[in-house]
Amino acid sequence: MMKKFLYGGISAVGLLLAFEAAADQSVEKNYADFCAACHGAERLGGAGTALLPENLARLRRPDAFKTIAEGRNASQMPSFADKLAKEEIQALVDFIYKPLPEVPAWGANEINASHQQHVPSGSLPDKPVFSADPLNLFVVVELGDHHATILDGDKFEPIYRFKTRFALHGGPKFSPGGRFVYFASRDGWISKFDIYNLKVVAEIRAGINTRNLAVSGDGKTVLVGNYLPHSLVLLSAEDLSLIKMIPVVGQDGKSSRVSAVYQAEPRGSFVAALKDAKEVWEIPYGGEDFNVRRIATDDYLDDFFFDQAYRHMIGAARDGKKGLVIDLNSGRKVAVLDLPGMPHLGSGITWEYQGKPVMATPNLKEPVVSVIDMTTWNTIKQIKTLGGGFFMRSHENSPYAWTDGFNSTDNRDVMHIIDKRTLELVKVLRPIPGKTAAHVEFTRDGKYVLISIWEDDGALLIYDATTLEEVKRLPMKKPSGKYNVYNKIMRSAGTSH
Ligand code: HEC
Repeated sequence: MMKKFLYGGISAVGLLLAFEAAADQSVEKNYADFCAACHGAERLGGAGTALLPENLARLRRPDAFKTIAEGRNASQMPSFADKLAKEEIQALVDFIYKPLPEVPAWGANEINASHQQHVPSGSLPDKPVFSADPLNLFVVVELGDHHATILDGDKFEPIYRFKTRFALHGGPKFSPGGRFVYFASRDGWISKFDIYNLKVVAEIRAGINTRNLAVSGDGKTVLVGNYLPHSLVLLSAEDLSLIKMIPVVGQDGKSSRVSAVYQAEPRGSFVAALKDAKEVWEIPYGGEDFNVRRIATDDYLDDFFFDQAYRHMIGAARDGKKGLVIDLNSGRKVAVLDLPGMPHLGSGITWEYQGKPVMATPNLKEPVVSVIDMTTWNTIKQIKTLGGGFFMRSHENSPYAWTDGFNSTDNRDVMHIIDKRTLELVKVLRPIPGKTAAHVEFTRDGKYVLISIWEDDGALLIYDATTLEEVKRLPMKKPSGKYNVYNKIMRSAGTSH
């Protein structure tokens, strides 16, 4: 409505002026004059965000228009409605969604130049400045205003809230003892946060558009997977200094984006999934050279799950109808899984069912949870739900698995509770009717469940994991995910790692 009011009734004189302005001010010139100071001459970012189609994938064009015209509250993004005509703003919108003519360079020089060590390593005390159990903390990512909250997981009280880099991406990852947490942002910034001292200690920009990061099981190395440029970046976990940049090029000589990186602690390696090559890369992290082992796959694989021993890797095929099981020792495909509706394997979980290990995964496009016997790789049940789900969680101490309806149209506000002993859907909660509910995480002991109300003025809801009743509500700004230190560092079977 607002926009219409501002621009709908533009006068003939206004239009004429606008056209004149548009004629002598090319979009490139406008960009250089009004935007480059903050967003970078090459649109790679600076004080402002990177303005590239890859980075703007989640921002709709009308929202980009509105952002440029009206600015963003509580940020440095100014409004340009009084400086630029409607057509000029539209031209800028079209301009920023155009890919750069070639993949921009972000190599060792650029990465090294971005390195910031805010606090010398080892200079802060090895003891928490708070009294809460440091292993039962949650790191809550609040995407709504780009903050993170450190939450006491016993009292459910925030300990500290701080500004993060713009648009964190992929889950944050903990150091093996849980003292440090590493964040990756959409625009490639990696930040190391000292939880004991509540301080960001080091940062580096590892790429221009980043998928996620992984921390090695020995706590020494961080691996970052990028979309732009096509690279893997190894950093020292100590101070985030660059160890090595690995250009990602498939056997066929074509470069590829990285869809995700993982750490496989029992194997002493990192695993990287490539988006544009039928390959998976394994990189042992124990030595100095970080050589790549290539594993050829039958298909492009997008999203992965590992068994608890990291012997098998289950990848979702691009067509969204099946999963491939690959034995990481032999590098061979050992089974094909029947997964009907684009499984979200990254959030799959495992447990024991009738004496056998099973895995369960929500499907993004079908309202079912697939349960698969991991000894035969057969689907033993498709549990019907009210909508395609995104996240699934449980805990060793709980008989229930929780999954959302995030990807449905009408049931984004539900939480499904599945009994792991019977594979039956036993209850459907609607925590706040009409508000999107997503991403569940259990406390360290499995007694409580934290649910996100995924809205700008959202909340964390805390449920008793046994009675399934709400016990507390904390307001939060679009809390996209929450990560329990203990469950993550112990690689609980009920959560992704
Ligand atoms: C003084 C610095 C500054 C200037 C000048 C500036 N921006 Fe921004 N811009 C920002 C910041 C900071 C943000 C991030 C805002 C936030 O936190 O939501 C931003 C956000 C944006 C976004 C939203 C990006 C996203 O991913 O949500 C767009 C689009 C944008 N700016 C376009 C422009 C254009 C086009 C111009 C020039 C006409 C411009 N900006 C000028 C600082 C600036």
